[in-house]
Amino acid sequence: MVEIKTCWFLVLCVSSIGQGSSDGGSTSTVNRENDGRSVIEAAAAGEDPDSVWTVPEDYDNRTRPGTPGTLLDVNCSAFITKLGPFSDRIMTFVISFVLQCWWKDDRLPYHKVMVDESKMKIWRPLISPMIHADVLKDEEMIYPVVYPGRIVYMTKLYDMRVPCQMHLYTYPHDRQMCGLDMSFVGGLKVGWGFSPYMQTKSPVAISMTNVRSAFQIDHVDYISYTLNVQSYRDTCIYQSGTCDYSGYADCIKMGIKCFKAENLNTTACINCLQFGGRCEKHPPKQDCSPFLNKVNLVGDFHTTLEFRFALSRRLSYQILHTYVPSFCVVAISWVSFWLDPASAPARTSLGVTTVLTMVTLSTKVGATPQHNYVRAIDVWMLSCKLFVVLALLEYAFVNFAARQASKAAKSPEETDAEVDKSFVPNEDSLDDENNGIELPKISFTITGYSMAKKLDYVSRFLFPTFYIAFVATYFGVLSYSEE
Ligand SMILES: *[C@@H]1O[C@H](CO)[C@@H](O)[C@H](O)[C@H]1NC(C)=O
Ligand SMILES: *[C@@H]1O[C@H](CO)[C@@H](O)[C@H](O)[C@H]1NC(C)=O
Ligand SMILES: *[C@@H]1O[C@H](CO)[C@@H](O)[C@H](O)[C@H]1NC(C)=O
Repeated sequence: MVEIKTCWFLVLCVSSIGQGSSDGGSTSTVNRENDGRSVIEAAAAGEDPDSVWTVPEDYDNRTRPGTPGTLLDVNCSAFITKLGPFSDRIMTFVISFVLQCWWKDDRLPYHKVMVDESKMKIWRPLISPMIHADVLKDEEMIYPVVYPGRIVYMTKLYDMRVPCQMHLYTYPHDRQMCGLDMSFVGGLKVGWGFSPYMQTKSPVAISMTNVRSAFQIDHVDYISYTLNVQSYRDTCIYQSGTCDYSGYADCIKMGIKCFKAENLNTTACINCLQFGGRCEKHPPKQDCSPFLNKVNLVGDFHTTLEFRFALSRRLSYQILHTYVPSFCVVAISWVSFWLDPASAPARTSLGVTTVLTMVTLSTKVGATPQHNYVRAIDVWMLSCKLFVVLALLEYAFVNFAARQASKAAKSPEETDAEVDKSFVPNEDSLDDENNGIELPKISFTITGYSMAKKLDYVSRFLFPTFYIAFVATYFGVLSYSEE
């Protein structure tokens, strides 16, 4: 489906290149500037503007067009047809994009022609996408088309799995930066430009309905720089800009709707399918001409295009599936403090159940032993576990304390005063039910019982207070570290 869509889009786009350039209203001017003659003059010279042009025998596709000794201007724009998922487990992301590059080749006819390119006879730049990426597919979609002004448009489709180093210390409140670069070897000065076919006024456009990610795209940066593979000191950024992509979260919901042809011409779908963000060019920080002068034909000093995504993780999933459930489980464990200390089965089973539920919840979050560091979510889960375990231990302590009290009370010399004290308020109620023999035992139980009650009473306030303090600290620290 997506593939069909991409092809359809390209056909549409390529047909609109011509429109784009003629809409500019300067086609004939461009021709005249470049050639010194008009289309009419050319027609008079016997050249048919709509013919298929066959590359002459003397055309050498190994020679770069342009003046020898100067860099050839190649401008490109990218249209990202599919993005994601970003995997924090294997630290890669999947991307499909169409890269369109255009340059001027003086050896070609100046009017619009379809070039017979079945044998790849026209010169084209050698593009090498980043070396550490898996290129799943790299294909030239459409033969180069020559447009007025001897401009050649080349369209390539890339499908890649790109590594992205992610830092997960603040997971799931993390922000990541993932990017991709492409080197253009052979004495070219490559830059980002606005392709007439995109009509988005953005060098990097994203089909927002096809973004499948736990992240949301905040902005996309695009840069072009010189790169010397032998010395990184020679790196100089000669073009850079940022496109703001915030506020387009709704496009995810538009997905299904925008797959229907009936809806394609609606503004909402056009905005989502061909969205380019609100782009802003940055002024160059330094003069790169000394570095550009060193760019060579051989390929060890070349120019490179790069774009990168600034991502922030969507929190709604973790809030619904981790934070709220674990908060509830911890809260449920406090119910124990309101139950009778004597009802051991109820309180232990409640405690054990909450502990087990916490263990299950934390396995769902997933351990990441390959990262070998503690993430924010691990701290959260561990603390929640600790709170439910402490609640269970509190009961163990209450139970134990009660029994200790009764044991101590059993030694007769110590207990008289204590027994009297604790026994007095309950004397009336207990008197008619119990005979004299059982009396000491009951009174000692009451001593332990009241102590246990006191412990429970304190816990009712202590546990929630400490937990709320922990929750506040946790989110406070995370929101502070995000800035
Ligand atoms: C590429 O872009 C630069 C800067 O926008 C411009 O000066 C140059 O003419 C463009 N080259 C081509 C071949 O479009
Ligand atoms: C140059 O043209 C020949 C055919 O004439 C083709 O086989 C070869 O792949 C082309 N080289 C490049 C770099 O396009
Ligand atoms: C989209 O196309 C339909 C017909 O296919 C037309 O009725 C509708 O007005 C168009 N909408 C826009 C926004 O152009």
